[in-house]
Amino acid sequence: MSSDHSNLTLAAEMIDDAQSIVILTGAGVSAESGLATFRDPEEGHWSKYDPMELATVHAFNKDPELVTRWYHWRFTRARNVEPNPGHYAIGALQKHKSNADQALTLITQNVDGLHQRGGASDVVELHGTIHTWRCTKTGKQRPLTELSFDTFPIPSDDGGLMRPCIVWFGESLPEDALQRSFQAMAECDLFISIGTSGTVEPAASFILAAKENGAKTIEINRDPTPNTGIVDVALQGASGVILPQILTEIGIEYPTP
Ligand code: APR
Repeated sequence: MSSDHSNLTLAAEMIDDAQSIVILTGAGVSAESGLATFRDPEEGHWSKYDPMELATVHAFNKDPELVTRWYHWRFTRARNVEPNPGHYAIGALQKHKSNADQALTLITQNVDGLHQRGGASDVVELHGTIHTWRCTKTGKQRPLTELSFDTFPIPSDDGGLMRPCIVWFGESLPEDALQRSFQAMAECDLFISIGTSGTVEPAASFILAAKENGAKTIEINRDPTPNTGIVDVALQGASGVILPQILTEIGIEYPTP
């Protein structure tokens, strides 16, 4: 038996035994749906723009048309792709744990809404969501579906501009999402990091915080990260492959969309 296989079995046992799990996900979980991660090269027209430079208040203030068009492209793309087996596996595991009166808190840095479409509920969206927009003047929120994207930037009804409810570089994270994250990390006995490079704070430190609270730790990632050396079990590979294998190992019926 290869060490990868025994590590997978070990991870499955840890997940099966855990009473309270926190899963933290990043862009890697959506990669197999066809959404590029932040650190992989983009294709097409927008590839010449650096997401780290567009996703800022400074960029929006300087060129709201450009930033709004970029987000229009991003959400159109997110809407046109489907959740992948990794999303469905997390949704199924959460339901399985809930039926057994156990907890699984899902914290994501993704803004694409694919976890919810893959069956997960009560998702802590640490970096906000692309599906809700707000007025720069009043903060009044509106669902994306109510906005018409025929002019760029989009004027709000109150004389401001509409922007996505996403946490841009340099902005504070939503207080309630942070509070829920720290509460869940204080209570969890297993922390699983999936598809995140572990380079953007505060999520990058979550694994360490959970470890200090006595939780066991697992990482599932295509590439090694700064956290790979400190977790109890590191599984290297695609989350859309590894997560369904773990579910099969535990004996949880794998959901087909
Ligand atoms: N399965 C698992 N992991 C994958 C897969 C896959 N199919 N494809 C890519 N990965 C891994 C990459 O190896 C990388 O380590 O996912 C990670 C994605 O890293 P980032 O692009 O840095 O995404 P993330 O960690 O979510 O970034 C955090 O940074 O740019 C900001 O706000 C943005 O929320 C984002 C935050």
